[in-house]
Amino acid sequence: MNLHVYKPHPNPMHCIVIMAGLLIAGQASAADELDLAIKSGCLSCHRGAEKLIGPPYQDVAAKYTGQKDATAKLAQHIMKGTGPTGLGWMKEGKASLPFMPANATVKPEEAIRLADWVLGMKGEIPGLLTYVTQSLSVTGAVGHKLDLSIDDLRKLPAQDLHEITVVSQSQATAGQTETFKGVLLRTLLEKAVILAPGRHDLKKIIIIARASDDYAIVFSWNEIFNSALGDGVLVYFEKNGKPLAEDEGRIAMLSTQDTHLGARHVRWLNAIEVRKAID
Ligand code: HEC
Repeated sequence: MNLHVYKPHPNPMHCIVIMAGLLIAGQASAADELDLAIKSGCLSCHRGAEKLIGPPYQDVAAKYTGQKDATAKLAQHIMKGTGPTGLGWMKEGKASLPFMPANATVKPEEAIRLADWVLGMKGEIPGLLTYVTQSLSVTGAVGHKLDLSIDDLRKLPAQDLHEITVVSQSQATAGQTETFKGVLLRTLLEKAVILAPGRHDLKKIIIIARASDDYAIVFSWNEIFNSALGDGVLVYFEKNGKPLAEDEGRIAMLSTQDTHLGARHVRWLNAIEVRKAID
């Protein structure tokens, strides 16, 4: 376990805040910080070394290194966002959104931990690899439990789906088409054979898709087998012609026909569970 080291700070109020953070957080390890960042949604916009919607954390670290108050300043930006005019990361070509929206779920002591974590970043986010999944299980109310490697998935009937990116806060990535290659969830479930002995049992079946970071989403049998939505639910292992990077996989799932922003999307997919939801 890595002990988190906080530098002494000239402003006594700031020290009190940090101490409070320490008391609550206990001994934070890099893995805890990564969990916190995942839980707080930071990784949908940030990476250690790569530009995503937000700037690479290593560039943020380099910019603020040696500045006093860096932790407090970044913690404020993390909680409140950097709007409406932003701080200029996009103008420098290091972000694709002009400002960061507020991260409303992040508490003050968490923001301080995240700020220190970002300030220590040199290269890709440590520990990201522990979430990468190399296989997918299908279990629960099925006749044939499956445990599929990426090679096994590749041998199943493949499907290409295209999705047009829509980002509400910006025009920057809107309108770009991304191509996903994988296997329809429906195909996997047909292979596993859902067990539903009663006449109306299928209508009570739900399908839970879980990731290695405990993120989970739910589909119903009707959505997958009895509606057009099922044509767009893909377990994918390639994006734009390339195997998935650490941050997504190597196996992920996407529901391309969800119409609201925040479509069901599971990175690091590792388990599909079939269950009867009600009697
Ligand atoms: C919706 C996308 C998005 C999310 C989610 C997001 N960020 Fe950002 N972040 C950005 C963008 C864009 C910028 C550049 C902002 C600017 O130039 O004003 C940024 C900038 C930053 C900066 C640099 C701020 C500075 O003072 O220069 C830090 C640190 C940061 N983000 C950390 C986080 C953390 C930690 C989380 C999770 C709690 C998070 N971000 C979630 C998009 C996001």
